[in-house]
Amino acid sequence: MSKGIVKMKALVLSGGKGTRLRPLTYTGAKQLVPIANRPILAYVVDNIARAGIKEIGMIISPETGGEVKAAMGDGSAWGVSITYIPQDAPKGLAHAVIVAKDFLADSPFVMYLGDNLIGCGIEKFIQTFHDTKSDAVILLNPVDNPSSFGVAVIDAKGKIVNLEEKPKEPKSNLALVGVYIFSTAIHRAIGEIKPSKRGELEITDAIQRLINTGGSVHSHILDTWWLDTGKKDDLLAANTIVLDEWFKKNIAAGTVDSASQVTGRVTVEKGAVIKNSTLRGPIVIGEGTIIEDSFIGPFTSIGANSRVKKSNIEHCVILAGTEVSHIERLEDSLIGRNARVSKCHHKHEALRLMIGDDSVVEV
Ligand code: G1P
Repeated sequence: MSKGIVKMKALVLSGGKGTRLRPLTYTGAKQLVPIANRPILAYVVDNIARAGIKEIGMIISPETGGEVKAAMGDGSAWGVSITYIPQDAPKGLAHAVIVAKDFLADSPFVMYLGDNLIGCGIEKFIQTFHDTKSDAVILLNPVDNPSSFGVAVIDAKGKIVNLEEKPKEPKSNLALVGVYIFSTAIHRAIGEIKPSKRGELEITDAIQRLINTGGSVHSHILDTWWLDTGKKDDLLAANTIVLDEWFKKNIAAGTVDSASQVTGRVTVEKGAVIKNSTLRGPIVIGEGTIIEDSFIGPFTSIGANSRVKKSNIEHCVILAGTEVSHIERLEDSLIGRNARVSKCHHKHEALRLMIGDDSVVEV
């Protein structure tokens, strides 16, 4: 059977611990951190479904698997079927492929890291995989800090010459974006590698093994944005881009009173109430949230069932169930679920804080 006829599947990696986004990820999976009020994983599944792939295997960890399942369901919301595949410990991306072997069977597959956002579809990468009849296609993006990623060296035709996982002295600035397309040849290569220094079976090493044993691996350099949403500033940047590029004005589902002003691409979700406030898009206000006597400025997402009172907020990501009151100006901030940020009226000189582990407060 030719590669074009075998049905492509997808393997989405949604395990891991998310240490870089602590404290947010103490209480949740990093792949479920919302960008413009939707979990990152929802955009990942959007992209896979748009490419016509119907069967998705989703790798989950014992710590966060339950909430990933609850958020994504059986995939019917996207017209796909999701099979959950537990990985008992974070033993590496290549180990995740071993765990998914029965699901993948003899299909080629797209492997997509569930905390990555790219600004384009994946259809053309799948096309390259078919056209070049290669054993793998990987996505690359130039970065300033290649040592934090898998790094590739390519020839003039875009074929991969060499790959290294998080090298101290990188041979190029081309980082591996967490999107890969593999033929079944990857399984043999994975069987021939050993755990890396960090004790994981690295997919980067498996792809290098594929090349060393005569496989052909092509690359695509992204011509759009890529956000590896591992840290606070990445997350704010992702929120800004997604609001800016993918959101339209849509306020009909909520209630905006006549004393309020709405300009630009503002989304007000179901049951949200806006009273005597100014909203300047692009922003999104979550389901059931109440905004009173406030200004909400561009590039802000406020999660569901939150409350903002007499405050000015701009360029912030605020998760669900949070209360912000009497804050003159809140900018460039990331606030977790069910948090309360308010001004104390009694002791003007004092800060009164209850802050979780690994939090950052800049006063
Ligand atoms: C993983 C891969 C690395 C890739 C990165 C992209 O790293 O091992 O090659 O560049 O994802 O996000 P990790 O996030 O596991 O450190």
